[in-house]
Amino acid sequence: MKGVVLAGGKGSRLRPFTYSGAKQLVPVANIPVLHFPVRQLVDAGITEIALVVGDTEPQIRSAMGDGSVFGARFTYIRQETPLGIAHGLGLCRDFAGAEPVVLYLGDNVLLGGISTFVERFAGSTAQGAVVLKEVEDPRAFGVAVVEHERLKRVVEKPTQPPSNLAVIGVYAFRPEVFEVIAALRPSARGELEIADAINGLINAGLGVEATVTSAYWIDTGKMEDMLSANRAILDTCADATDPAAHLIGGSKRGVAAIASGARLEACELIGPVAIGAGAELRGCRIGPYVAVGSGSHIDGSAIRNSIVMEQSSITACPGLEDSMIGRFTVVERAPAGARLTLGDHSRFEGPA
Ligand code: DAU
Repeated sequence: MKGVVLAGGKGSRLRPFTYSGAKQLVPVANIPVLHFPVRQLVDAGITEIALVVGDTEPQIRSAMGDGSVFGARFTYIRQETPLGIAHGLGLCRDFAGAEPVVLYLGDNVLLGGISTFVERFAGSTAQGAVVLKEVEDPRAFGVAVVEHERLKRVVEKPTQPPSNLAVIGVYAFRPEVFEVIAALRPSARGELEIADAINGLINAGLGVEATVTSAYWIDTGKMEDMLSANRAILDTCADATDPAAHLIGGSKRGVAAIASGARLEACELIGPVAIGAGAELRGCRIGPYVAVGSGSHIDGSAIRNSIVMEQSSITACPGLEDSMIGRFTVVERAPAGARLTLGDHSRFEGPA
């Protein structure tokens, strides 16, 4: 079996971060989102993986490499224009050859992995398989029509959802799907929809299995979703302080993952928190649910429920919360209760 991870697309809902980078590389708990699909494919025994990339190809290539650090082998496949998920998968026809593929959307975070799903598909004769998740408001997703436990149809982003079962971004297909994709026409929004590919298989009488998951899943497409994913992943982190980290004074409550070379002086840590390599913090209260990226500097500040990306600097902010601070960004004197969303290379200075 082979893997296909979609890491192209526009990312318009994650601006400003996507002005300067790929949305799939935005970190949760200091881990780029794109690592999750790749690690889970490898954990499920799938090491031949195509990464479908668009304009952000150079960044994705330099962040992900050739796959060897993940125990995988990557093939980069360029999608010149984001013409849809089924289009992206269709570009992988030669890569897949005669093998089944697991398609994983590069902005999805699913806890618990995909091994059971992959094993079940490998042992079945179905031409496709999808994972469903019950959600409160499914209008932003593909929504399943299920009758007598059988998948009848998928409706993409319906205004009146036929069920509460969203199709999550993990799919498995046998090669027949490429025939169906080749015959697809663009939808009203101009994309080749994965929902139409699934419906094409069903209409041709080729079975598509659906399993409902109760695991935590989130499509990190929006800002608040990133913070929710950050919390969920921090909740799974182990308490670990790298031997090459320095904790000088201060206190620690709950789980903290502190990476090599981090230096914390007189800080109150309230877990779960993750502190990246080489980050320097002095006189701070951090947490709960804060990820501080590598090489960042935080001085005299209190931060909770936030993502601070690499190489940023935060000074004299007594109560930063629910914030996403991009890379190489400077924040000084933000008032207590400030909620900031700042892209890479931004600057915020409160009154002196
Ligand atoms: O997250 C699950 C949902 O993902 C499903 O319920 C929907 O049926 C499915 O259409 C998809 O909806 P989204 O609107 O969330 O898809 P998005 O445009 O965000 O793309 C998902 C990933 O695929 C993202 O990492 C970008 C990448 N992508 C997307 C398109 C349209 C590509 O690489 N190329 C593309 O052409």
